[in-house]
Amino acid sequence: MREKNTPFQCGTVGFLSKGSERSLSAILLILAAMTAPTLYSDEKKPVELIAHRGYSAVAPENTVAAFHLAWEKGADACELDLYLSGDGRVVVIHDASTLRTAGVDLKVASTSTADLQSLDAGSWKSPAYVNERIPTLAQALETMPGDRGRFFLEIKCGPEVVPALKAVLDPMRERAGQLAVISFNLAAAAETKKMLPWVPVYLLASGKSKGVTRNLDALIATAREAGLDGLDLGTDWPWTEEMVGRVRQAGLGLYVWTVNDPVLARKLAALGVDGLTTDDPVALRTALQDGVIPSAGN
Ligand code: G3P
Ligand code: CA
Repeated sequence: MREKNTPFQCGTVGFLSKGSERSLSAILLILAAMTAPTLYSDEKKPVELIAHRGYSAVAPENTVAAFHLAWEKGADACELDLYLSGDGRVVVIHDASTLRTAGVDLKVASTSTADLQSLDAGSWKSPAYVNERIPTLAQALETMPGDRGRFFLEIKCGPEVVPALKAVLDPMRERAGQLAVISFNLAAAAETKKMLPWVPVYLLASGKSKGVTRNLDALIATAREAGLDGLDLGTDWPWTEEMVGRVRQAGLGLYVWTVNDPVLARKLAALGVDGLTTDDPVALRTALQDGVIPSAGN
């Protein structure tokens, strides 16, 4: 009776001896393993190091000084936070109020850009940064080198900011590779993708909601239904190869925030995530390259 062929015996030919057939099968198996599709990319792209709110370990977060320092120190990208000001401009600040970073309690959404920019948003961090201002998005984007770098723009408010965001980003269409939009707000992320389809958009999510681990498959489905490009997840997710594989299998990009622990950074880089958002991109790069654990800001 004729032996049933395994998939890799189909190509063997009659004139080969049994031993030669076995060798050929082994070679074919190796070739198949080398060319077989994998769950996620085999391309060993270096992990993108994203300076969280600029080089916020050293300079005041979300200021032009923090972005300039990040570019100067070789960060691959900068992250920043966005709100819509009272006069309809896109401004760069993390909180809904200016109290924490400027010492005066103004609500960003109901304050004019001129009033926001009259505040000192630097000296809370260090006297060396006295009179740093709250930048508009356009002022922050101007810091980005023409030939490298990328901004991850986090929408902190809702979809109402998207028309103003589009007005700022549309003239940068040919620099699409230097931009990404991120948000915890699904409506804001989905509206951005709808109005600016050429900009990559990633959905932010922490690993736990009210103390309970979130459902990754549901999050993946949500991102895909909204046409988003990927996920940007907190360090509190249960990071495993299987978890990263599920995101990759769905065809989504994968970033992680905020990673300041060198041991975790090495683990995540080995898992093949696309990028790590960190307060100290120099320390993290050193840790990833040399296995050294430097102190923050050095
Ligand atoms: O990059 C995402 C991360 O910045 C989200 O947290 O509070 O720092 O804006 P938060
Ligand atoms: Ca942020």
